[in-house]
Amino acid sequence: MTMGQTLSNSSSSGAPELTPGVLDVDPVLAIGQEPVDADADLKDLLRWASDLQQEQPMVLGYPEALDFRDHDLAPLLDVLVNNVGDPGSRDASGVSAKAHELAVIQFMAAMAGTTVDEVYGYITTGGLEGIERGPELARERLPHAAVYASDQAHYGVRKAARRLGMRVVSVPSRPDGSMDPDELRLRIAVRDYVPLGTRGARRQTPPRRHPAGDLRHYLPRRLRRRGDPASSCSAGGEVHVHVDAAMGGVIAAHAPSELSWSIADGADSLSMSGHKVIGAPVPCGVFLARRDLVGGGEVGAEYVGATDRTWGCSRSGLAVLLLWRRLRAWGHQGLRQRVQSCLDTAAYAAETLATVPQAAVDRVPNTVKSSRQRDGCGV
Ligand SMILES: Cc1ncc(COP(=O)(O)O)c(C=O)c1O
Repeated sequence: MTMGQTLSNSSSSGAPELTPGVLDVDPVLAIGQEPVDADADLKDLLRWASDLQQEQPMVLGYPEALDFRDHDLAPLLDVLVNNVGDPGSRDASGVSAKAHELAVIQFMAAMAGTTVDEVYGYITTGGLEGIERGPELARERLPHAAVYASDQAHYGVRKAARRLGMRVVSVPSRPDGSMDPDELRLRIAVRDYVPLGTRGARRQTPPRRHPAGDLRHYLPRRLRRRGDPASSCSAGGEVHVHVDAAMGGVIAAHAPSELSWSIADGADSLSMSGHKVIGAPVPCGVFLARRDLVGGGEVGAEYVGATDRTWGCSRSGLAVLLLWRRLRAWGHQGLRQRVQSCLDTAAYAAETLATVPQAAVDRVPNTVKSSRQRDGCGV
């Protein structure tokens, strides 16, 4: 709850709400003209790290693994490891960990039911970078396409679409959290019939008094009929499916129930976080996309002679090595055991919380939400 966030009153649903707090520069930490005592700063930093570590056993509920110990790799902090450009592109810098990156991508591609012959991939700064790169690829192929995202999508989807200049259409979800396919068909059909884009004076937008959920008013009768998904879907034409698998991808890949989530299931691109289920001391992620969508790759980073189809330029080789080390120590088998242990823990938490009087418990496989009314307040 530190780092600029405060817990405020409960919402009407009983769940506590977070409101952003404001951080000012701490004068003790300010960087001025004169050098300061570096030994004292080191002590402070180490104390800060030790305090965080001591808190770890009490941390419940933030979706990031904390069970890594990488301090034996401290010498890596004394070298620059910079993966400029595509992992599969040799570069002249000589300071990259691209060989390790390729091994991680190969592993992740297999996890997503495919191979590196079929998909291009690289290690990102986090899940959101892939949420931008996927729709960017979609926009190249489908320049006027809108982003259809579940109303439960992470806020980063809107942020990414805004940066890409793409319109977002929010699609209601079903009680189990999945996107409602009927609502999706409806919105695709409405978009075709009522050009919500920019078609000048003839543009026909629904009057404001109708909330988005009432778009049925604007459909021709033939599309209003339920059970006519084919005509509704064909209104959408070609699509690009990006899967935001930030946390769920690793779980879905190894959970006993078979879930459709991956490239093998028809996704064109997907993004995952590395610091969530896998765990790493630095935020990182993985992006994968069908190879035929990313093209051959022209030389981008000329000064190192590399092709570059990544989002940025310099990329963290440290993050690559940390992920590689962890995945190599586990292999697919170890990761499967880890996911099973997450699911067992979530089941145990749900069962135990359900014994608390007046507690409402809601569990999707690896996430448990519980709230309890006490003295009129949600807890
Ligand atoms: C569903 C979902 N998508 C995207 C993100 C963003 O991922 P990252 O923090 O790795 O950028 C998160 C983070 O919590 C998430 O839960």
